[in-house]
Parts: sequence; C-alpha cells; structure tokens
Amino acid sequence: MDKSMMHVRVPASTANLGPGFDCLGIALNLYNDIYMELSGKELTIEVSGEGQLFIERNEENLVYKAAKKIFDRLNIKLSGLKIKTVNEIPLGSGLGSSAAAIIGGMVLANRICGNPLSSDDILDLASEMEGHADNVGPSLNGGFNVATYDGVKTLYIKKRIDDDINFIAFYPNREVKTRRARGVLPERIDYKNAVFNVGRASLLTAAFMTGDYAKLRYATEDMLHQVYRKELIPELYFVIEAALMGGAYGAFLSGAGPTMMAVSSNDMLDNVIKSVEAVYRDRNIPLKIYRLKCDNIGAK
Ligand code: HSE
Repeated sequence: MDKSMMHVRVPASTANLGPGFDCLGIALNLYNDIYMELSGKELTIEVSGEGQLFIERNEENLVYKAAKKIFDRLNIKLSGLKIKTVNEIPLGSGLGSSAAAIIGGMVLANRICGNPLSSDDILDLASEMEGHADNVGPSLNGGFNVATYDGVKTLYIKKRIDDDINFIAFYPNREVKTRRARGVLPERIDYKNAVFNVGRASLLTAAFMTGDYAKLRYATEDMLHQVYRKELIPELYFVIEAALMGGAYGAFLSGAGPTMMAVSSNDMLDNVIKSVEAVYRDRNIPLKIYRLKCDNIGAK
C-alpha cells in the first residue's frame, strides 16, 4: 500500500443488542482499512475485499461523501482525492459497514486538514449522516457504547469489554437494506412494550458495565424491532432459541440484520456454533460464521 496515503483502520459493530434500538452498540474486531490522499486530480476510488463488486467508485461512494461533509464543514475546496479501501466487513449485513465507511472518510478528511475537529465533533457529524449513533459510536470509539443522538449532539458512554466474552456473528450471505428493515417497523408501539424494552435495555447496559453476563438471556429480549423484522429474517427466533439451547448468554439480530449475533463464554463457543449452524443448514441458508471479540480502541 502507498505509504504516502493517510490510513485508518475502522472496526465493525453490532447495534441494538436486542432491546437497545438505535442506542446500544459494540465494536468488533473485523476491520475496513481506508486510505486517502489529496491527488490534485479527479476523484479516484479503489475498492477490494467485501463489496468490491457493488461499491460505487464515484461521488456516491460513502467514504467520499463522509470526507466531503468534513471538507464542506471546514470550507475547504477539494482539488482531487484518491481513496482506497480494503474491506473485511460484509455489506448490508448488519455489521456496521456503512458506519465504518462514514467514520473512515471523516477521520481521514479531518486528518488531512490538520485535525481541526474533535472526535466528538466527528461523532456528531457521523450520527447526522447515519441518523443514529449505535454503529458510528463504537466504530469511532471502540468498546460497548450507550450512544444517543438528539439530532444535534451525540451523548455516549463507553465501557471496555474483556476478551472472556465472544461475539459470534452468523451471516447468511444476503443483504438486507437498512431502509427496508426500518420500513417494516410500526409508527406506534404499545406502552407495555415500551416499558418492556426500557427494562431489558437498562438491564443489558448494567450487565455489560458489571460483567454480569448471565443476565443477558433475559436482557437481550426485545419488543421494538425484532418481532417486526422477522418478516425479513424468518430464521430470527429459531437462531435465538438454538443459541440459548447451545449455551449462549444471549442472542439477537445484529443491527438491521440479516446477521444474527450470539454472545458466549469461551467454554460454550463451539457448542453454540454447532447448535445454531443446524438452523441454517436445515433451511438451506448459506452461512458464514465470524468468531469475534470486542474491539476496545475504535478507529486508529
Ligand atoms: N439501529 C439501527 C437499526 C441499526 O436497527 O435500524 C442499523 O443501522
């Protein structure tokens, strides 16, 4: 790789964690490497790895759009940009590929300009682009994040998560567009479902803050989005059940899906995988499994 280019490595993320719709997320040790330099010529974009057949090489490219948002904010006129990305995060999978692209583009554009914007400024702009902070927060800062965006500011708290806990991503090798997965959600919800989710999301946050993972079985339950999204991801509740049967602490739809995430101890890891694999196999759904840990650093 060209040594003269600025480089940032951005982690994937899993959002919602069941009940924490649009506000809870965890960074994962699967990465997109993004490189950028001012070229003085036209925009050139090279993409390799995940999504290389589909990602735009023009002004619609998300890394470019995110970088441009920074240059515009700083009133800097662009005279050509060269971007390279080497992607490990599958596209439209629910593992935060768009958040990683946005964070990568913004961090590098800010760096090229001499870092005038703070990390929190970047997070506000990234949340504005994404509409919520549950993926961009962890991608930028690493760790477990409670991250809430009020339309202007992103308020977040980060907690480091040790390696004794595993995040097993079951990726069924198909794309579900976030817009579509948000489109199936209702306009209104029952008061009792809201109360249900407040309880689960609070307990889940406390479980990650204290390491009391045994509570996750109950704390990953959700009534705000998974129940509606199972129309797009029919295997959803079967996977959750199989993961729990296999000894997982908890399981949930990763972001807007279609990836399902199971959380397990080191001891139960292989058992959980075996149990969940059978669900996909019985339905002839192709499957890629990622054995992941929390990334505690974020974009670097
Ligand atoms: N919280 C978001 C959702 C994550 O579930 O729609 C995906 O962008």
